[in-house]
Amino acid sequence: MGISLDVIVDLQYGDCGKGKVSHYLSKTQKYTHVLRYNGGCNAGHTIFHKGKKFVTHHIPAGVFFGVKSIIGSGCVLDPDQLFREIQELEAGGVKTKGKIFVAENTHVITQKHKDEDKQKGAKIGTTGRGNGPAYRDKYGRTGVRADSVKRLQPYLIDMYKEWYERGKDVRILAEGAQGFGLDIDWGDYPFVTSSHCTTAGALLNGLPATSVRNVWGVAKIYETYVGSKKFQPKGDVFNKMGDIGEEFGSTTGRRRQCNWMNMQTLERAVRMNGVTHLVFNKIDVLREIGQWAVIDNNKVVNFKSEKEMNDFIVRRLKPLGLDRKHVFFSEHKDRI
Ligand code: IMP
Ligand code: MG
Repeated sequence: MGISLDVIVDLQYGDCGKGKVSHYLSKTQKYTHVLRYNGGCNAGHTIFHKGKKFVTHHIPAGVFFGVKSIIGSGCVLDPDQLFREIQELEAGGVKTKGKIFVAENTHVITQKHKDEDKQKGAKIGTTGRGNGPAYRDKYGRTGVRADSVKRLQPYLIDMYKEWYERGKDVRILAEGAQGFGLDIDWGDYPFVTSSHCTTAGALLNGLPATSVRNVWGVAKIYETYVGSKKFQPKGDVFNKMGDIGEEFGSTTGRRRQCNWMNMQTLERAVRMNGVTHLVFNKIDVLREIGQWAVIDNNKVVNFKSEKEMNDFIVRRLKPLGLDRKHVFFSEHKDRI
């Protein structure tokens, strides 16, 4: 008996397609649990399931396949949003009963947190969902935990018991939120979110370091960022990326700023997260635009073709321990 853990982690600024990868891996039925390990309802995971579009904020993708889906202690939870989401899933034909759990020691986002974030979050360009104030109160030791909220009682779970005392093999798929560039420690502070978005963040949910098997890094073939700092350079090509890639926030509807993929951000994220498999999404967006480029050491490097660019990327990943057979190029239109 033992615990194994596969982690899905975003290597850029969120919105790289973690939801899609989580949905794909959950479908294999290899996992006993799918765990959301950080963040709150600032996240928006867009998932196409049986031809229908769903946007989840708290609930991990295991729920679409009847796998136990846990909102972990690394998260902050807005109960109103949780119940709204359960309703939406049920209305869309997804059975949630007995499948959704909240760790007893998860902190709760209150109305006060939301009000404060809406008022004061503009400097950073937060999603206004109360995420930062809820984490601040957690660390200030004045927060509210899920186990003291009455309406959450039917969903509570003791993660120690769940991981270690069931007497069965535990195979967890851990689904991260946001991304490396928004990580509280390694992102571009202060333009970051308030949680740990890296693989390490998954372990904070009571899991042993020895349990990590595969780390699925998810990136986009170009970059997007939503928030207050200036990110998008001048040039029509970046507006085209936004239009063709449908780059609008799934939580707030804000237009995402676009840029070419930064190789140094990617390399740092691959190293620090211990990535073993890497998915690049939205390759077809650049195909439609007909331009291929990355930023390397602060300079734009142009390529003549998709193949030339992909080969360049694969070459750069090799010294980081990623083989060609563990690098995948996926399309936006390829909805699973
Ligand atoms: P907060 O997490 O709402 O406090 O927002 C902090 C920063 O992270 C802002 O720039 C947000 O736009 C960004 N952010 C938070 N959640 C997401 C997400 O799920 N995808 C993309 N950006 C996000
Ligand atoms: Mg998103």
